[in-house]
Amino acid sequence: MAFEKAGAMIAACKQRGGILLPLLEDINAEYGYLPEEVLRLITSELGYALSQLYSLATFYNLFRLEPRGRHFIQVCQGTACYVRGGQRILESVEGVLGVKEGETTSDRQFTVESVRCMGCCSLAPVLRVDEDTYGRMRTGRFRDIVKKYGRNER
Ligand code: FES
Repeated sequence: MAFEKAGAMIAACKQRGGILLPLLEDINAEYGYLPEEVLRLITSELGYALSQLYSLATFYNLFRLEPRGRHFIQVCQGTACYVRGGQRILESVEGVLGVKEGETTSDRQFTVESVRCMGCCSLAPVLRVDEDTYGRMRTGRFRDIVKKYGRNER
Protein backbone atom coordinates (compact mmCIF):
# COMPACT_ATOMS: atom_id res chain seq x y z
CA MET A 1 0.00 0.00 0.00
CA ALA A 2 1.40 3.37 -1.05
CA PHE A 3 0.29 5.16 2.10
CA GLU A 4 0.89 2.42 4.64
CA LYS A 5 2.70 4.77 7.00
CA ALA A 6 -0.25 7.17 6.90
CA GLY A 7 -2.50 4.31 7.97
CA ALA A 8 -0.32 3.78 11.05
CA MET A 9 -0.34 7.52 11.79
CA ILE A 10 -4.13 7.63 11.56
CA ALA A 11 -4.47 4.60 13.85
CA ALA A 12 -2.14 6.23 16.40
CA CYS A 13 -4.13 9.46 16.16
CA LYS A 14 -7.36 7.54 16.77
CA GLN A 15 -5.90 6.13 19.99
CA ARG A 16 -4.96 9.65 21.11
CA GLY A 17 -8.49 10.90 20.63
CA GLY A 18 -8.44 11.87 16.96
CA ILE A 19 -6.93 15.35 17.25
CA LEU A 20 -6.59 16.40 13.66
CA LEU A 21 -4.00 19.16 13.32
CA PRO A 22 -0.95 17.20 14.58
CA LEU A 23 -1.98 14.30 12.34
CA LEU A 24 -2.10 16.54 9.26
CA GLU A 25 1.28 18.03 10.21
CA ASP A 26 2.79 14.54 10.48
CA ILE A 27 1.33 13.45 7.16
CA ASN A 28 2.45 16.63 5.43
CA ALA A 29 5.97 16.15 6.85
CA GLU A 30 6.07 12.52 5.75
CA TYR A 31 4.86 12.98 2.16
CA GLY A 32 5.61 16.65 1.53
CA TYR A 33 1.88 17.25 0.97
CA LEU A 34 -1.53 15.90 1.95
CA PRO A 35 -2.44 13.22 -0.58
CA GLU A 36 -6.16 13.05 -1.35
CA GLU A 37 -6.15 9.29 -0.80
CA VAL A 38 -4.88 9.85 2.75
CA LEU A 39 -7.44 12.58 3.42
CA ARG A 40 -10.17 10.16 2.35
CA LEU A 41 -8.72 7.55 4.70
CA ILE A 42 -8.92 10.06 7.55
CA THR A 43 -12.58 10.72 6.80
CA SER A 44 -13.42 7.03 6.95
CA GLU A 45 -11.27 6.24 10.01
CA LEU A 46 -11.84 9.32 12.14
CA GLY A 47 -15.24 10.50 10.97
CA TYR A 48 -14.25 13.97 9.78
CA ALA A 49 -15.91 15.37 6.68
CA LEU A 50 -13.62 15.83 3.69
CA SER A 51 -14.66 19.50 3.57
CA GLN A 52 -13.36 19.96 7.15
CA LEU A 53 -10.00 18.57 6.14
CA TYR A 54 -9.76 20.80 3.09
CA SER A 55 -10.76 23.84 5.17
CA LEU A 56 -7.91 23.18 7.57
CA ALA A 57 -5.47 22.34 4.80
CA THR A 58 -6.16 25.56 2.94
CA PHE A 59 -6.30 27.75 6.06
CA TYR A 60 -2.77 26.91 7.20
CA ASN A 61 -0.20 27.66 4.57
CA LEU A 62 2.18 25.05 5.93
CA PHE A 63 0.06 22.39 4.24
CA ARG A 64 0.33 21.49 0.59
CA LEU A 65 -2.31 19.73 -1.46
CA GLU A 66 -0.01 18.94 -4.37
CA PRO A 67 3.33 17.14 -4.28
CA ARG A 68 6.40 19.29 -4.47
CA GLY A 69 8.84 19.09 -7.32
CA ARG A 70 12.11 17.23 -6.90
CA HIS A 71 13.82 20.47 -5.89
CA PHE A 72 12.23 23.00 -3.58
CA ILE A 73 13.15 26.63 -4.17
CA GLN A 74 12.37 29.17 -1.48
CA VAL A 75 12.81 32.85 -2.26
CA CYS A 76 12.87 35.10 0.76
CA GLN A 77 10.47 38.04 0.77
CA GLY A 78 11.14 39.07 4.36
CA THR A 79 11.86 42.73 5.02
CA ALA A 80 15.66 42.61 4.72
CA CYS A 81 15.50 40.60 1.52
CA TYR A 82 12.61 42.57 0.08
CA VAL A 83 14.34 45.94 0.43
CA ARG A 84 17.43 44.47 -1.22
CA GLY A 85 15.59 43.25 -4.29
CA GLY A 86 13.95 40.03 -3.14
CA GLN A 87 10.95 40.68 -5.39
CA ARG A 88 13.19 40.96 -8.45
CA ILE A 89 14.93 37.72 -7.46
CA LEU A 90 11.57 35.98 -7.25
CA GLU A 91 10.59 37.36 -10.67
CA SER A 92 13.85 36.12 -12.18
CA VAL A 93 13.29 32.64 -10.73
CA GLU A 94 9.75 32.63 -12.11
CA GLY A 95 11.03 33.78 -15.48
CA VAL A 96 13.78 31.17 -15.72
CA LEU A 97 11.51 28.30 -14.67
CA GLY A 98 8.35 29.51 -16.37
CA VAL A 99 6.16 29.16 -13.26
CA LYS A 100 4.68 31.50 -10.69
CA GLU A 101 5.30 31.46 -6.97
CA GLY A 102 3.50 28.48 -5.42
CA GLU A 103 3.68 26.43 -8.63
CA THR A 104 5.65 23.39 -9.75
CA THR A 105 7.26 23.06 -13.16
CA SER A 106 5.46 20.71 -15.55
CA ASP A 107 8.39 18.27 -15.40
CA ARG A 108 7.96 18.18 -11.58
CA GLN A 109 11.58 19.17 -11.05
CA PHE A 110 11.09 22.49 -9.24
CA THR A 111 8.58 24.03 -6.88
CA VAL A 112 8.91 27.74 -6.11
CA GLU A 113 7.65 29.36 -2.95
CA SER A 114 8.25 32.63 -1.18
CA VAL A 115 9.04 32.67 2.52
CA ARG A 116 9.10 35.44 5.12
CA CYS A 117 12.59 35.06 6.61
CA MET A 118 15.23 32.37 6.49
CA GLY A 119 17.13 33.67 9.49
CA CYS A 120 20.16 34.83 7.53
CA CYS A 121 19.19 38.44 6.82
CA SER A 122 22.82 39.60 6.63
CA LEU A 123 23.01 37.65 3.35
CA ALA A 124 19.95 39.36 1.83
CA PRO A 125 18.58 38.83 -0.67
CA VAL A 126 18.51 35.08 -0.12
CA LEU A 127 17.14 32.05 -1.86
CA ARG A 128 17.38 28.40 -0.97
CA VAL A 129 17.33 25.35 -3.20
CA ASP A 130 16.64 22.28 -1.07
CA GLU A 131 19.26 22.58 1.72
CA ASP A 132 21.56 24.97 -0.17
CA THR A 133 21.42 28.66 0.72
CA TYR A 134 22.46 31.34 -1.78
CA GLY A 135 23.00 34.80 -0.35
CA ARG A 136 23.55 38.24 -1.88
CA MET A 137 21.59 37.08 -4.88
CA ARG A 138 21.57 38.96 -8.13
CA THR A 139 18.91 38.50 -10.76
CA GLY A 140 21.17 36.90 -13.38
CA ARG A 141 22.71 34.44 -10.94
CA PHE A 142 19.78 32.06 -10.75
CA ARG A 143 20.36 30.95 -14.35
CA ASP A 144 23.70 29.45 -13.28
CA ILE A 145 22.44 28.09 -9.97
CA VAL A 146 19.56 26.15 -11.52
CA LYS A 147 21.92 24.33 -13.88
CA LYS A 148 23.46 22.59 -10.86
CA TYR A 149 20.10 20.98 -10.26
CA GLY A 150 19.74 19.63 -13.75
CA ARG A 151 17.85 22.42 -15.45
CA ASN A 152 18.91 24.43 -18.43
CA GLU A 153 17.38 27.87 -18.70
CA ARG A 154 14.40 28.42 -20.95
S1 FES B 1 14.49 38.63 5.55
FE1 FES B 1 15.39 37.25 4.17
S2 FES B 1 16.65 36.04 5.44
FE2 FES B 1 15.68 37.37 6.82
